[in-house]
Amino acid sequence: MKKALYLIAGLLAMACARSPYTDQPIRSGEIWPDDRGEHINAHGGGILCYDNTFYWFGEHKGERSSSAFVGVTCYSSKDLVNWKYEGVALSVEDDPESEITRGCVLERPKVIYNKKTGKFVMWFHLELKGRGYSAARAAVAVSDNVTGPYKYLGSGRVNPGILAQNVSEEDLASLEGLPELESWTPEWLDAVKKGLYYKRDFEGGQMSRDMTLYVDDDGKAYHIYASEENLTLNIAELSDDYLSHSGKYVRVAPTGHNEAPSIFKRNGTYWMITSGCTGWAPNAARMFSASDIMGPWTQYPNPCRGEKSEITYGGQSTYILPVPGKKDLYIFMADIWRPAHPIDARYIWLPIQFGEDGVPFLEWMDEWNIEAYK
Ligand code: GAL
Repeated sequence: MKKALYLIAGLLAMACARSPYTDQPIRSGEIWPDDRGEHINAHGGGILCYDNTFYWFGEHKGERSSSAFVGVTCYSSKDLVNWKYEGVALSVEDDPESEITRGCVLERPKVIYNKKTGKFVMWFHLELKGRGYSAARAAVAVSDNVTGPYKYLGSGRVNPGILAQNVSEEDLASLEGLPELESWTPEWLDAVKKGLYYKRDFEGGQMSRDMTLYVDDDGKAYHIYASEENLTLNIAELSDDYLSHSGKYVRVAPTGHNEAPSIFKRNGTYWMITSGCTGWAPNAARMFSASDIMGPWTQYPNPCRGEKSEITYGGQSTYILPVPGKKDLYIFMADIWRPAHPIDARYIWLPIQFGEDGVPFLEWMDEWNIEAYK
C-alpha cells in the first residue's frame, strides 16, 4: 500500500515536472531572441511536439532575399518561449542540378512524426530556382532524428491523374470546348468552380503552393495546400508512411483565393484559418469549419476583431498549435513579412478565443503568457 502511494506521489511529481510552461510573456511583432541572442529565423513555420519537447521548423530568411540560401531551420523548447537553436534540419544543396539547389524557393515547411515508421517527415512548398512560382510543387524529406539532418526525397505536383472525391466527370466534361474566358467574369468564376484549372492540371497533378500538415487522432495525416493558381484549396490524405499521397483528396472553396492554411480541431469540429492572396502584404484572414476534414467546409467571417483586424494585425497565418496540458489553448501563429529585409520578419502568436457558440475569434494582445491558461 505504502509502495503504491510512493509510486503515485512519484508519478504526480513527474507529471508536474512535465508541465514546464512559463509566465514569461509572448510579445507578438517584437524581436524574439533564441539561446544565442539572435532573432529566431524560422518563418512560415510550424511546431511539432515530440517527447515533451517542442520543435519549431521554418524557413531561414536572409538579409536581402526571400529565396532559400540555407534551408529549413529547427529550434527546440520546453516552454514555447525560450528557444534553443538546433541548426539546419534540411539544407539546400550546392549541386546546381539539385531540385533544392541554393537559391530555390523553399517555403512553409512542416514536420510530422509517423508513429508506425518512427520517422520524422517534412513537407514543404518548392519552387525551382530561376522559375518564379511556376513549378508549384510539394516536396518531401525524411529523418530518423527530429532535428535532422533530413534527407530530401523529391517533389512534384499532387495526385496526377486521380479524381478528387468531390469532382465529377460530368463537371469536367462540361468544360470541354470552352472559349478563352476573361478572368473574374461570372462565366470564368463558374468555370473555375467546375474545375477549369483542375482539369488543365489533371494529368500532370495539381499545383501545390502554401501548405500545412495535420495529423488526426487516428494517425491519418493530411496535406492542405493552395492549388489551381491559388484559387482553390486541396485537402489530400497522405499515405500510411506520410511520404506520399494516398489518392484521396477534396477541393475546398474553389475561386476563394485562399492560402496560408492553418488548422486545428476542437470538440470534434475542424477549424481552418487562411489568408487571401496578396503576396507578402497582409490581408483579412478567412475561417472555415467542418465536422469531417474532407468536408463539406463552411465559411465564417474574418475571425480577427479590433484594430487592424482587416489585415490580420499585419500578419499571415502559418500554423495553429494546440498546447498540451492546457485545455482550450490553441496558439494562432502568423508571420509579419518584411520582404525588403526578410530576416527581420516578425512573429504573431495569439491565443485563440472562443465565443459562447464555440466559434473561434482573435484579438490583438501586446503580451500574454501560457501559464495563465488552465
Ligand atoms: C505569399 C505566400 C508566401 C510567399 C509569398 C511570395 O502569398 O503566403 O508563402 O509565397 O506569397 O510572394
